This record gives sequence, structure tokens and C-alpha cells, in this order.
Amino acid sequence: MKIAVLPGDGIGKEIVSETLKVLGRLGIALEFEEAPVGGAGYEAAGQPLPAKTLALAKRADAILFGAVGDPKYDTLESAKRPEQAILGLRKELGLFANLRPAQVYAELAGASALRPEVVAGLDILIVRELTGDIYFGQPRGIRPHASGGREGFDTMRYSESEIRRIARVAFDAARKRNRKVCSVDKANVLETSRLWREVVAQEAASFPDIELSHMYVDNCAMQLVRNPKQFDVIVTGNMFGDILSDEASMLTGSIGMLPSASLDANHKGLYEPIHGSAPDIAGKGIANPLATILSAALMLRHSLGQPAAADRLEAAVKGALRDGYRTADIYTAGTRKVSTADMALAVAERL
Ligand code: IPM
Ligand code: MG
Repeated sequence: MKIAVLPGDGIGKEIVSETLKVLGRLGIALEFEEAPVGGAGYEAAGQPLPAKTLALAKRADAILFGAVGDPKYDTLESAKRPEQAILGLRKELGLFANLRPAQVYAELAGASALRPEVVAGLDILIVRELTGDIYFGQPRGIRPHASGGREGFDTMRYSESEIRRIARVAFDAARKRNRKVCSVDKANVLETSRLWREVVAQEAASFPDIELSHMYVDNCAMQLVRNPKQFDVIVTGNMFGDILSDEASMLTGSIGMLPSASLDANHKGLYEPIHGSAPDIAGKGIANPLATILSAALMLRHSLGQPAAADRLEAAVKGALRDGYRTADIYTAGTRKVSTADMALAVAERL
């Protein structure tokens, strides 16, 4: 099994290299091939997503991705910005289904900004559509405006088939969980959302065992901090999913804990932590590698057909937390503050 390894920028490099060490302890034949992406791609080949990197991603069985972005590229034209690498990979590889689980580990309930009783035992899954919406809709641009100045414009767009296929992913996922799907939209204002709601409701007819509800995105943002445990699976579009998944991540205490999977129609996938490249802490050895290690577990489960190895890896992460190991972002008094490398080592030892 061939894995394209794309560490990217900032802490991406250190969390990915530590994750590879952990994967090496699983005793599974995995072949790794690394390529530059994001700012690193721009430095190497003048493009955030160099042709060779894209070709490697296409030929691999799965992609392990770190993070991209650095403020030093903020002045580049948008096509050259590091973020284009991840957007390009999603689009080019048809990775339309983004799974972002938010789980609170018992050991970390105290690290959440919310009261422990609000988040203890939380286990929700955000299913975010990833290749449509205002992210990719045309036309878009900046043009002269009649008033004399300029105007910026983007287009929010969803086709019925795009909505249908992401709805199915959410209903299928709910079948393996608590059989509840909440579809999030802004149907009181947006045409896109009206169609979204209608199509999701139609699709629900094929899943009579799943309880479907609908919620406006602003209310959902509020409900996530008021009573997050009311949710099981949340399905939503690209833009709302981007925002709600960052919000959900903080329920768990640290954005450094959350993995994600971005899947195509055939279970090929790109696996990445949901956090960014954190240039302010890059190279200091303090970044939390667990989101990337947990992303690798999702990769074993969803793309590599190794569910038992995925379970072992997740159990090892829980073991390290149970034994008190904490990187700075999840540290609380009475636990043991460790570096990126020592956290990964703690996981590896427990395999
Ligand atoms: C994410 C990120 C990306 C997104 C950025 C880096 C383009 O925020 O994966 O959530 O907006 O999708
Ligand atoms: Mg985001």
C-alpha cells in the first residue's frame, strides 16, 4: 500500500514525521513517498500544488497531509497561495466527503472551554461537503463597481447530485452510530439551502431507520456550545462545515486533537488534522501530533482496509492520554507536559 506523504508547512513537517514513526510500529507493509505541498511546493516548484505532487497523490492509495500556509505568502496572488494546494487536491481527486469527528476523551474533558458536564462523553461527526459551494462556485472575482469603486463576488452553488451524494454519506455514517442526522443550512435566506433541504429530505426516504432533522446554521453554531450532545451526525455544505468544524473542535479542548478524512466515491482519501500550520510554534517541538496520528488511524480504517490496526492506534492514543502525557495545548495541572516527539513515542510504546 502506497501512501503519499505531504507534510506541507509549519508544524506540518514535525507532526507528519512523528506520525510516520508511529505507523512504522504497526507491523504493516506501508510504502511512503514524500512530496512538497503548500508553501513548500511553491519554494520547490513555484506552485503550491506541483504537478509531481499531484501525480503522486493520484497514484497513491491514500494521502497523509500535514498542513499548509504561512503569513509570508499572504501577499501572493490567490492562485499561488499555499491554501490552493489543499483546495486543488480536494477538487482534482474528487474528495467530496469530509468526515470531521469531534470526540471528547474522558481525560481531556477539563481542557474544554465549556463545563465538563456539557462536553463529557461528546462524540459527534461533522460530514462536510468539500468540493462544491461558494468555495468553488463560478463566477467569482473582483471587478469595477458602478459606484466607482470595486466589488468582490463569489457564487454559492450546489447541484442536486452533489447534495444527494453527501447526504448519503451522512446517512450511511449515522447507521454505524446513533442513527441521527441533523442537516444544517440557511434555508430561510439562501436558494442553495432551499434545494439542499429538499434533496436531503428526499434522500432520507431511503434511510427510514435514521432520524433526520434540519437546523439553520446560526442556530447550530449556538446549539453546539449550548448542548452539543444533542447531535450525532451533522451534514452540511463546504462553507458552513468549515466554520462549524472549527467550533466543534474547541468543544474537545484542543484543535490539536481532531483528525479528518476527505474521501472520494471509492474510499480513496486524504487524511489531515483539522488544525492549520501554526507557524508561530513551528519547529519548537511543542505541537500536538495526536490529530495527525488519529488521521492516520482514519486512513487505516477508510482507505487501507486495516480496521484492526486503526483500533490499535486509537487505543494507543487513549492509553497515552490515560497515562498523563500531554502536549502544551492540552496540558492541565497534575499531568505530564511532553514534546511532540515524546507524545508520539508514548503512543508508539503503547502499540
Ligand atoms: C480547512 C481549512 C481550509 C478550508 C483552508 C486551509 C483552505 O480551513 O480544511 O478547514 O477552508 O477548507
Ligand atoms: Mg477550516
